[in-house]
Amino acid sequence: MGEGVLTSGFSRVDGALACEGVSLDRIAAEVGTPAYVYSTSVVRDRYQKLDAALAPMPHRIHYTLKANSNRGLLNVLRDLGAGVDVVSGGELFRAMRAGFGGKDVIFGGVGKTERELREALEAQVLLINVESEAEIRLLDRVAGELGVTAPIGIRVNPEVTVDSSHRYIKTGEKGAKFGVPFDEVLGAARVAAELPHTTLLGLDMHIGSQLFRLDPYLDGTERLVELLGKLKKDGIDTLEYLDIGGGLGVSYDDEQPPDLTRFAHALTSRVQPTGLTLLMEPGRFIVGNAGVLLTRVLYRKRSGGRQFLITDAGMTELLRPSHYDAYHRIEAVHDTDKQMTADVVGPVCESGDFLALDREMDDANAGDLLAVYDVGAYGYVMASNYNTRPRGVEVLVDGDRFAVATARERYEDLVHLEHEDPQWRDA
Ligand code: LLP
Repeated sequence: MGEGVLTSGFSRVDGALACEGVSLDRIAAEVGTPAYVYSTSVVRDRYQKLDAALAPMPHRIHYTLKANSNRGLLNVLRDLGAGVDVVSGGELFRAMRAGFGGKDVIFGGVGKTERELREALEAQVLLINVESEAEIRLLDRVAGELGVTAPIGIRVNPEVTVDSSHRYIKTGEKGAKFGVPFDEVLGAARVAAELPHTTLLGLDMHIGSQLFRLDPYLDGTERLVELLGKLKKDGIDTLEYLDIGGGLGVSYDDEQPPDLTRFAHALTSRVQPTGLTLLMEPGRFIVGNAGVLLTRVLYRKRSGGRQFLITDAGMTELLRPSHYDAYHRIEAVHDTDKQMTADVVGPVCESGDFLALDREMDDANAGDLLAVYDVGAYGYVMASNYNTRPRGVEVLVDGDRFAVATARERYEDLVHLEHEDPQWRDA
């Protein structure tokens, strides 16, 4: 694939950064900072490239809401023909509100509540990916109560070695909390096949996130295909879907994203003979490179021989640097030839509140705008109100137009669930 052929969405025009045809200056002036700015062309480009690569086999791309779930973005993906992957009742609610139908939805997650399972069944989702035998039994009971049959996918832990950038985002290795251990899948499948209100429609895996090597995917897929053979031998032949999860890596620095054509080719040779429909659950690949976080420098100061840029965004807007030690490129919105070495830190009362440490970067001063790159995935969705900070605004850009997708929180939004005078109840 090579980054070169992917749309970037951001470029320098007349001395300053623009997203597609709209200058970031203009957006900051109109909606303020911190602001998340997303290029819809990048989202469309990524979706269409992946869809085209998978074209040789029956497939569907289920965009993973946890990466970024605002309504405006979901509208774009719905119009492209995407399905969705959700992991909570809240995400299901968002998906349905955005006009996705039940059959567009895969419901996953390691700890679904009975209420969430009921909601998934009521929504008539395509697949509920279960992670234990106990969950299959609970699902059978709830489906029985509702008078429906639960469409089950078993999330398999394929127990492959993965090369993800951080141990928090590996999920498919032996001993992980995710999925049914490989050697217990046959037993779980028999339970799903025998219970009256469940039907086994799929096998699923998700081995980790920000993956660059293809072999763990292919090894995992082979493990699923191997299981499929065992299930057939056992007389279980209701399967329709092979879901290989998400995890495709993107470039934040100089990483080389996996070659989509090679990836699809290798998958086709393994999946096509099964006659099943391939499902994928990408999040980061579709939206990761599509967004920047616009933040303004509040102060520049020196301390202990270090230069600090104190910005109006920090760990509350982008948790990835402090939580995963993640690298996000930072540039001044206005062109400059001067460079500096700085710690870019937020206003939160934590030493772990930083966007970059010891970074060689564009020189910046109080009042300047910075763009923190590649925040389209796991940016806004991981934001918090710590220090009672209102969440920032989300903006979509499409060519020469832009729109607010999510308004900036107001102080009143931060306290609207609080009881002014809590009513005491006696024990
Ligand atoms: N499917 C399942 C079952 C998942 O758990 C995930 C992500 C995905 C699909 C989508 O993975 P993606 O294509 O986006 O890699 N907050 C972390 C990433 C956590 C990913 C969790 N699961 C980060 O900021 O790097």
